[in-house]
Amino acid sequence: MSKTYRNIVILTGAGISAESGIKTFRAADGLWEDHRVEDVATPEGFIKDPHLVHRFYNERRQHLLNGIEPNTAHLAVASLSQQRQQEGHGQVTLVTQNIDNLHQRAGSEPIFPMHGELLRIRCKQSGELFDCHEDTSPEDHCPCCDIAGNLRPHIVWFGEMPLYMNEIERALSQCDLFVAIGTSGNVYPAAGFFETAKHFGAYTVELNLEPSVTASRFDEQYYGPATELVPRFFDSLN
Ligand code: APR
Repeated sequence: MSKTYRNIVILTGAGISAESGIKTFRAADGLWEDHRVEDVATPEGFIKDPHLVHRFYNERRQHLLNGIEPNTAHLAVASLSQQRQQEGHGQVTLVTQNIDNLHQRAGSEPIFPMHGELLRIRCKQSGELFDCHEDTSPEDHCPCCDIAGNLRPHIVWFGEMPLYMNEIERALSQCDLFVAIGTSGNVYPAAGFFETAKHFGAYTVELNLEPSVTASRFDEQYYGPATELVPRFFDSLN
């Protein structure tokens, strides 16, 4: 791959954070951290048992805030975009399905966390967002409306619309290289982004531990741990 690319879209999934110590989703048992996805990642689950859902995200948040660090793959993504910004050389758009803040801590900017953010909560009524590093519960009063029970995790659950779709669609239509990192290709619309990029003429590359569901339709594929593959791949672009 010797061509110089101008506009790059990078899509990341749970695999890029795996070596930082955050579990991926699709383990063989079909559970997410010992819970059924329906119970902790759907609007219906939240209505049925808000205590369980708050507790679940409290545990994820505390885990993230206690000793989890960005790894060399997050750092390689950040340095690619910083370097290209400095050189005034095209644009790198980072879209992540991850709710951790490891890309942000690695220094990536701008970033579109399309499935929400663990370190934010929002008012169900007004949509106002609040930073959140502490545990939450259904008894908490919302800072904007003062109503108990109006705060929910700022997470896109199954059946809900992902965030930043306009910005993402625009970037996909303008990119000449699309790179998917550490994602299984099971969850749409993210799993279809490479097709959109391809449709607009982009070259598509998958970097993953193992072939994703859509692997054969990428132009190029590389397999191995993200901490090795990602720095090596982005070095090869320079
Ligand atoms: N390096 C690279 N890839 C890895 C590594 C690693 N060290 N470890 C695991 N992987 C790969 C797995 O092989 C798998 O293909 O990362 C992928 C993770 O897949 P999923 O667990 O399905 O995660 P993801 O694709 O991000 O899930 C998408 O589904 O549950 C929802 O909203 C949630 O954002 C999530 C979405």
